[in-house]
Amino acid sequence: MSIHEMRKTYTMSGLSRSDVDHDPMVQFRRWFEEASQPDLPDWMEINAMNLATSDAQGKVTSRIVLLKGIEGGSLCFYTNYESEKGQQMAENPQVSLCFLWGHLQRQVRIEGNVTKSERRKSMEYFHTRPRESQLGAHVSQQSSVIDSSRTLQEQFTALESKYNQQEIPCPDHWGGYEVQPTRFEFWQGRPGRLHDRICYRVDGERWQVSRLSP
Ligand SMILES: Cc1cc2nc3c(=O)[nH]c(=O)nc-3n(C[C@H](O)[C@H](O)[C@H](O)COP(=O)(O)O)c2cc1C
Repeated sequence: MSIHEMRKTYTMSGLSRSDVDHDPMVQFRRWFEEASQPDLPDWMEINAMNLATSDAQGKVTSRIVLLKGIEGGSLCFYTNYESEKGQQMAENPQVSLCFLWGHLQRQVRIEGNVTKSERRKSMEYFHTRPRESQLGAHVSQQSSVIDSSRTLQEQFTALESKYNQQEIPCPDHWGGYEVQPTRFEFWQGRPGRLHDRICYRVDGERWQVSRLSP
């Protein structure tokens, strides 16, 4: 099938303003739980989200990261603070997240402001990761140009022996970010491309809910 012939009809369900919770985070958790069905294929990562960032000049980049927590009204992910995204978020704390839950014909878009997690929280999470991921975080100068994967592997093996049986410290250049949302959009695919889009915008202490044209 050629690319231009690829299309699906979305018929699974609809979304109205009366269906959604007045608190978008409650609505997000509801959809997240619905997306986390037990019989999903192994390769599917419900917590994978696109993260778009931009620098002070407005150059935009995006990539997938994993959502690792929802706490106190913010969404958390972990990365290298010196990576391209880390440098962009230092210049411009406004980010955008996007989840695709294709098996439910749903998309969730979130915009917000990002801050670094408390150091204690990053360290605690770091120590719950598999040892090889901890070593990987030390070895990788994420987003920088390297000679070969062999050099990385050699550094990995050297660190493995260095920390043999010992606790691996959380690197200073690695940790969490918290996204404090200012806008949510819940998208449900509908027949005839008349999709449902319910949007929340922060207005002082309250959320304004509206329906958007597909
Ligand atoms: C499914 C998936 C999950 C990923 N999760 C993370 C993550 O949680 N943190 C991270 O730093 N990179 C993650 N990555 C790698 C990023 O997409 C990206 O390659 C990396 O963070 C470097 O991005 P940057 O150069 O734009 O900073 C993931 C990639 C995929 C495909």
